[in-house]
Amino acid sequence: MNKPIRKNAALIASAQAGLSQPQKTLDPKWFYDDVGSALFEQITALPEYYPTRTEVQILTDGVAGLARAVPEGAVLVELGSGASTKTRILLDHLPTLSGYMPLDISAAFLADIAAGLAAEYPTLDITPMAADFMAPLVFPETIAKMPKLAFFPGSTLGNLEAEAAIDLMARVRDWPQVAGFVIGVDLVKTPDRLIAAYDDAQGVTAAFNMNILHRLNREAAATFDPAQFRHVARWDADAERVEMHLMAREDIAFAVDGTVFHMTQGQSIHTENSHKYTRAKLDAMAAMSGWSVAQWFTDPNADFAVTLLVPNA
Ligand code: SAH
Ligand code: AVI
Repeated sequence: MNKPIRKNAALIASAQAGLSQPQKTLDPKWFYDDVGSALFEQITALPEYYPTRTEVQILTDGVAGLARAVPEGAVLVELGSGASTKTRILLDHLPTLSGYMPLDISAAFLADIAAGLAAEYPTLDITPMAADFMAPLVFPETIAKMPKLAFFPGSTLGNLEAEAAIDLMARVRDWPQVAGFVIGVDLVKTPDRLIAAYDDAQGVTAAFNMNILHRLNREAAATFDPAQFRHVARWDADAERVEMHLMAREDIAFAVDGTVFHMTQGQSIHTENSHKYTRAKLDAMAAMSGWSVAQWFTDPNADFAVTLLVPNA
């Protein structure tokens, strides 16, 4: 993890473009290297981060209701599969599944998780794909012909702007032989709980946010001093999203692969949006991308929802 890594040209180009904007930004997909994926797993166990345990409960209670949507021999295709923890609920309770294709940008982490799953589920075809889910997805020929259930848990949809989220949903609608799309979304709630979930007492989310700077130092010849930044989580009520920022504690300068950037005290780098949903918002997004909401499962507090979308005729 600390060994020198070959420079990542895509990361350098993306970071230099984002840091040149008046509101500096970094694309949240760069959080996820080995270190970031492990930090995200720690986040999922935090007392303040209710989404993961709530979604696990919803899936456990609702999985029988998903069974009808899974044709015989279907492949479960998960976008942003991470540790594939929730997936096990589906793999264990949907006997018509014949395979699982986890797709994730965190390539080494994905390879480890897929190897573990292949050993644990010897009768399932496990086909990991290291890819960016924002790029067009080309299925291996055998999988292209099979029925598919798409799975996008974790409210990762919420890390996309509405337009990009709808585009992604429309692309999944165009997958060959897609039978349904199961999406987990975090719901709008009081700002104090939302902020706590993104600014936990142990500082794990702060470390996750800061990892993007460490990664740039490791892979993009950057010269960040993370101690010069403060983790900030804020609720934007109009956009219904939690934003994460890295705020400069003082006037600073840093370079990314030789290009120098300046920040004044209090200026921030915007690293993530986490949009929160209502049923009406999700219904509208589904309608705009060629899907209908067939099922809507929530917990008793209505903190989180899992929805089953089916293709419009
Ligand atoms: N599905 C898991 C993990 C969610 S964390 C869960 O619900 O707990 C979000 C996951 O999406 C991470 O594993 C991250 O590596 C992956 N990810 C983020 N942006 C991505 C992108 N653009 N393409 C592919 N994977 C991405
Ligand atoms: C992966 N994604 C849905 C998480 C979220 O809640 O937006 C990432 C995360 N960011 C901070 N904590 C967790």
